[in-house]
Amino acid sequence: MTQKKIVIGNMKMNPVSVVEFERYLDMLGKEMKKNDFEKTELVICPPEVYLTKLVDEKISGVKSGVQDIFWEHQGAFTGEVSAAMVKSLGAGFCIVGHSERRKYFGENGEIISLKLKAILKSGLTAVLCIGESMEERKREQTSGVIKKQLKEAFDGIAPGRLEHIVVAYEPIWAVGTDKLPTSDEILEVKIIIKKSLAEMYPAKSIEKVRLLYGGSVKSNLVEQTCLDPAMDGVLVGRESLMPYEIVKIAKIIDGN
Ligand code: 13P
Repeated sequence: MTQKKIVIGNMKMNPVSVVEFERYLDMLGKEMKKNDFEKTELVICPPEVYLTKLVDEKISGVKSGVQDIFWEHQGAFTGEVSAAMVKSLGAGFCIVGHSERRKYFGENGEIISLKLKAILKSGLTAVLCIGESMEERKREQTSGVIKKQLKEAFDGIAPGRLEHIVVAYEPIWAVGTDKLPTSDEILEVKIIIKKSLAEMYPAKSIEKVRLLYGGSVKSNLVEQTCLDPAMDGVLVGRESLMPYEIVKIAKIIDGN
């Protein structure tokens, strides 16, 4: 059976109150009642404080995830939440390596590798974000950056784990900017990702890694960012804050 396509909403640090999040869930539930996806998984990653609300709502066709975890299982790590805790609440996914965490929280390759391992160990599916800055793209370093990020993250990960990893290509310059790569540019990076993985793993296990695009995705850009370069789905920021829009994006992908 071929793997399902996947649309992931990264809500980031939004909305600012539980009342607004409940309203969001209400609207999402209504949108999902009108839709039934066959080939596409829709995953919503709210701030962790709202995770139980999402899980308990049990919206048919909607899976849940988080945007970060700490790599330790439990213990004296004030303020942190482990992958096992998230898993025990009923979530299925966790984002790791997002450029905002690399930038604002100093997360480097070593930290991302520790987190990725913890996510997989807990039984969650990891959504690993990678991508170059505009500076790096202009200097034609995209390929080197992508390779390095993949090598660091996948260090010590057994081939059998790959089906539980989704890789999202999110060029830093396309996140929150409305500047997008062309479909050819996305396809080029897709090939770089496949080649890099092929240097580390047997071909059969690589097939199981789903490859997404993320950065300024909107429903009218699904063709350019997902369908044309034959990606396995998208990772969506701002538009995921509007249930109608994220469901529309999933609908377009499901229909193709
Ligand atoms: P935007 O869709 O708002 O550009 O954010 C993309 C993103 O960072 C998703 O993880």
